[in-house]
Amino acid sequence: MLKGRNFIDPTDFTIEELDEVMNLAQDIKEDQDSYIDVCRGKILATLFYEPSTRTRFSFEAAMLRLGGKVVGFSEPGSSSVQKGESLRDTIRTVGCYSDIITMRHPKEGAPNYAIDYSYVPFINAGDGGHQHPTQTLTDLFTIRESKGRLDDMVIGLCGDLKFGRTVHSLLKAMSEHKNIRFVLISPEELQIPKYIKNMMDKKGIEYKEVERLEDVIDELDILYMTRVQKERFFNEADYIRLKDSYILDEEKLKNAKSDLAILHPLPRVNEIAYEVDDDPRAWYFKQVKNGMYVRMALIMKLLGVEKC
Ligand code: CP
Repeated sequence: MLKGRNFIDPTDFTIEELDEVMNLAQDIKEDQDSYIDVCRGKILATLFYEPSTRTRFSFEAAMLRLGGKVVGFSEPGSSSVQKGESLRDTIRTVGCYSDIITMRHPKEGAPNYAIDYSYVPFINAGDGGHQHPTQTLTDLFTIRESKGRLDDMVIGLCGDLKFGRTVHSLLKAMSEHKNIRFVLISPEELQIPKYIKNMMDKKGIEYKEVERLEDVIDELDILYMTRVQKERFFNEADYIRLKDSYILDEEKLKNAKSDLAILHPLPRVNEIAYEVDDDPRAWYFKQVKNGMYVRMALIMKLLGVEKC
């Protein structure tokens, strides 16, 4: 039963519960007209303490396409946060006006704190370099769509694996599936955090760490590219040194499988050349659209509303 629950980490839901959300997302994708009024009278609050295009717009589009309404801010400077209001008071206040809240916050763990003060279901829209569970739902849905399964595959994750919250969430979620092998491609400075490696070791998940994408691209069923995130670096010189570590282009893709699926949570800077956008293996803009369907399904499940 998902009604009334929060979603702050991908493992808050079992595999079966994630499937339930994805199955509903699939139905919405195929028959959107049947859902245009299911959230009439409901309000989603979107609290974005950090910039966003996809996550905020897709949440707002999702609620509007379900017949509900949206309130919120896209940067906290336009709210009483600017006057010093605490996160707990903001969450308590917004919960008085809305039926469900989604929040992006730069501080890791902020959603764990916020849920103690929320009267309504709460969704983490990304917390610092920690987790981004609705991106993971989007990624799982897109992987399932491209491969027809979520088991038995080799997944390459490439770029900033240290600060990339989408990577951390996807690794956690895919580690629940059978016969998954990870290839972790990053410069030494941007390797996956130790706590994620410990989690994989504990579960007996097979993985290897490499620096060169060219050396492993032929092994992969999924290639999950990520941006080197300027905003997470303390030192600009380090960012400049590492920002061009990986640029995926058609030349590099010559050795890849013909049914490789290339995903990227976006935004991209330069890590995927524009020429790749026309390659049938590029799934990242389909992934963007899927993000709206999975958020429509998630909102419905947490509010406990159904197709009429
Ligand atoms: N994928 C993602 O979180 O994109 P935004 O930062 O634009 O929301």
